[in-house]
Formats: sequence, C-alpha cells, structure tokens
Amino acid sequence: MAFSASTPTSYFTPFSASSETSLPSSSFKPIKIPAFWPWQRVKVGPMSVSPMGFGTWAWGNQLLWGYQESMDTELQRAFKLAVDNGINLFDTADSYGTGRLNGQSEKLLGKFIREFQGKKRAQDEIFIATKFAAYPWRLTPKQFVNACKASLDRMQVDQIGIGQLHWSTANYAPLQELALWDGLVAMYEKGLVRAVGVSNYGPKQLVKIYDYLKARGVPLSSAQVQFSLISMGEDQLEIKDICDSLGIRLIAYSPLGLGMLTGKYTPDRLPRGPRGFLFRQILPGLEPLLSSLAEIAKRRRKTVPQVAINWCISKGTIPIPGIKTVKQAEENLGALGWRLGSEEVLQLEYAARESPRKMIQNIFQTR
Ligand SMILES: NC(=O)c1ccc[n+]([C@@H]2O[C@H](COP(=O)([O-])OP(=O)(O)OC[C@H]3O[C@@H](n4cnc5c(N)ncnc54)[C@H](OP(=O)(O)O)[C@@H]3O)[C@@H](O)[C@H]2O)c1
Repeated sequence: MAFSASTPTSYFTPFSASSETSLPSSSFKPIKIPAFWPWQRVKVGPMSVSPMGFGTWAWGNQLLWGYQESMDTELQRAFKLAVDNGINLFDTADSYGTGRLNGQSEKLLGKFIREFQGKKRAQDEIFIATKFAAYPWRLTPKQFVNACKASLDRMQVDQIGIGQLHWSTANYAPLQELALWDGLVAMYEKGLVRAVGVSNYGPKQLVKIYDYLKARGVPLSSAQVQFSLISMGEDQLEIKDICDSLGIRLIAYSPLGLGMLTGKYTPDRLPRGPRGFLFRQILPGLEPLLSSLAEIAKRRRKTVPQVAINWCISKGTIPIPGIKTVKQAEENLGALGWRLGSEEVLQLEYAARESPRKMIQNIFQTR
C-alpha cells in the first residue's frame, strides 16, 4: 500500500536512498510512525480510546447510504486498516439496518471484531459504542435491558463499551424518558455495558440525566451530538461547556456533514437519494467554508476531510466520521497526529459563520 504525507502511517528512513546501497539491507528497516501516539488517547469512563473513532451508520442503511451486502468485504478491510492503525472506538446503533437488514451494522461490527481478534489478538481492546433506540414499544427499564441483550447477541460480545440512549423522549413522552434512564442504570449495574452515554441530548436534558444517574451511582461518560463546522451553533457550544465542567466526553457525530465537508460534492455533483436533496439546499451556501478548508488543506499538505475532522479534535471532541471504503478510512486516519493552529481554527470558524447555510438538526435533538 502506498502512503503519502497525508496518510495514516508514515515511514521515516534515517538515510538517503543513495546511502542504502552501501550498507547491509538489514540496517534500513524503516521506523513506523503511528497515526497517533499512545498519550493522545482519550479517557471515556474507564476506557482509553483513540482520539477519533469510526461511525458505521452506512453499514446496513440502504436508503441514505446505499448499503449493499456486496460492500461487506471492503468494509471489513476498512475496519482492519483502522484497527491496525490504533482506532479502537466504533460507533453503531441497534437501528442501523432495518427490515431484512435489521441490526446489520452491529452484526458486521461483531463479526469483524471476532475475525480480527481470532487471527491476531488485538493489542488493545476494541470498544463498541452502540445506541438503543427509544422505540415507542420500549416502555419499561426491562425492555431497555432486553434491547441491550439483543445488541450483545447480534454482536456476539459479552460487554458493550458505551451503551448510549439514542435520543431523549422528554419532548413527547416524558414518562418513557424515566424508563430509559432506569434502563441505562440497570444495564450498567448488570455489567452489560462498561460505561453509559447519551445522544441528541440538549444542554438542559443533559444536566438532568447527569444528576439523575449520579444520584444512582452511575457516571455519565459521553454525550454524542451533531458537531462539525456546519453544526456548531449555540447549543453545541453550550453542550461542550457542560461536558467539560461535568467530565463528560463529547462525541462528534457527522463531523463531515454527511459528506458535504469532504469537498467531493458540488451543486452539480450530488450523491443519490435523500442526501442529494439535502445537499442541493445547503451546498451552494458553503462556498466560503469549503474554500477555507481547501486553502488550509493545501498549505498543510493535508486533504479537506482531514482538516474538517482535525477541527473537531482541536475543539476537544472525539469525532466519529462514517467510513464506507478503505480509501476513506486511510484518508481519515490522516486527520490524526497533527493539530490545526489556533489561527487556522479561527479562520475556519469565521468562514463557517460567513457561509449562510447550516446543517439541519436531528429531529430528536432536545434542548
Ligand atoms: N447519534 C445520532 O443520532 C447519529 C446521527 C448521525 C450519525 N451518527 C454516527 O456518526 C457517524 C458519522 O456520521 P455520518 O456517517 O452521519 O456522517 P459523516 O461522518 O459526516 O460523513 C460520512 C460520509 O462521508 C463520506 N466520506 C467519509 N470519509 C470520506 C473521505 N475521506 N473522502 C470522501 N468521502 C468521505 C462517506 O459517504 P459517501 O462516500 O457516500 O459520500 C461517509 O459515509 C455515523 O456513522 C454514526 O455512527 C450518530
């Protein structure tokens, strides 16, 4: 595999090419520079995770992401490349994959982990962060615990890294919300999950669940929210502040704006399906931001997605970009091992504010 300056692993050879001929070849083993250093790992509850995880929504979703089972070999190769380069956090959900493909993302992730660890024991553990949907028929804590057991079954693992509530029902079914919280407590107490987290919780709900769990002796370890250069509104910044003050780790989902921040889509070159419809509304307003991303990428000898992901890391979050191919995994790994300067961060945020269109928020996002 060819590696460039912007790929995950670089090789450093202390001698010039011409000197290689004059010394025995055994002297020239290249030094492998890892995608990131061990001390750059991040604590999430009791776990030490890579500064970036990968998202797997596309691993089973046909409507938005065009998933087909014929993609599985490529997905497995992308997974292996990620783990070989130190990525040990993978985000999934029990709702990723419906109908015949029910739970497909969790199933694939479990299979890939088993087959990877079967061949060669992973040096470090791989942590799965899954999300439990607040379906209207999941009304009691026991039903949430059963949902967790169903995920464990699908993945064929004994324990989940982070068990997350996919969304809050506080706005439309407040009584169900309490069942969700108690379900999370029960999963944790039974040891089915190492840590608990939430997703799509706004600042107010986040503080409420934090207090509730704390009173029950359960630490809230993570909060997942849409966070990117096109999703950095007041709520996101308030959530980040709350996370910092309470010791909760913020996981940034859709850090590439569903692909809009990769630079590969334009108003004339749109993805198929519902994303195309969404991008047609938003992309024409992203010109200042996309230009700024491209300019910094060029100056840094990085790529546009690498800069967009690195911005999330620079803001103190753990981004979980979605990947569908080895090439995307490899490129996104190049977001690690370096850091945008504060001027560059400001330049990007200024350009983002100058861009009139923003990402739409998840319908389940609460205040
Ligand atoms: N908690 C929640 O409610 C929630 C909601 C959304 C997402 N998530 C999680 O967050 C993860 C990431 O978010 P996301 O998948 O929605 O969006 P994203 O990370 O912003 O975008 C991912 C998509 O961008 C494209 N892409 C990725 N890397 C690329 C590269 N280097 N070059 C070119 N294209 C690239 C791929 O799609 P194409 O190749 O098709 O363009 C990929 O599927 C999800 O997988 C999921 O685990 C959680």
